[in-house]
Amino acid sequence: MIAAKGDLMPGKIATAALVAGLAGAVAAGDEGPVPEPEPIGTMSELMIKLMYPASDAILYVESRAPANEVEWNELQAQALILAESANLIMMPSRVVGDRDEWMRDARLMFDAGAAAYEAALEQDLDALIALNEQVYMSCVVCHRRTRPDYGRNYKRFDDPPAEALPAAEEAPPAEEGRLP
Ligand code: HEC
Repeated sequence: MIAAKGDLMPGKIATAALVAGLAGAVAAGDEGPVPEPEPIGTMSELMIKLMYPASDAILYVESRAPANEVEWNELQAQALILAESANLIMMPSRVVGDRDEWMRDARLMFDAGAAAYEAALEQDLDALIALNEQVYMSCVVCHRRTRPDYGRNYKRFDDPPAEALPAAEEAPPAEEGRLP
């Protein structure tokens, strides 16, 4: 018992030292300008490294259906990345072009990602499949507006809802196998 008590002491001292250390770090953080969110990746990097794989996990969920808890966890993570990526591109310094339009377009991805995350948490494969078009259109709507080289885009879906396609009547014939 005495030995056990003795053993606890170094732990307590270490904890106290750690707490003191953290307090010091917090105090140091109080100095200088208050930190603001700051971009690390470029828009292109976010798109290629976060949004593209995350949305693919949802768009191909039918053929890559999760088969166990680990795979469901991975899909949940991808859906969460998709939803939270919308918040990342809503950072003031990341806005491209007209702010209001950018925020509304990003919100489409937020909504699609949040719904996909919810469905993934519930392990609801049918709901995820049903969300495919919403996810896909959330990319297309913004790209049509913000990417000058875009527009000669393809449709992964045969029959997108007319209201989701602002320039549907001018849209060229569908092409397969290109990025959204
Ligand atoms: C709110 C606007 C917006 C949304 C929403 C959006 N993108 Fe983008 N995306 C952009 C812009 C702007 C670029 C051009 C970036 C650049 O080249 O600087 C881009 C470029 C891309 C590129 C090409 C990157 C490159 O450099 O080749 C890919 C891939 C991409 N987006 C995927 C997606 C996917 C997938 C989604 C939906 C899940 C999506 N984006 C949603 C605005 C958006």
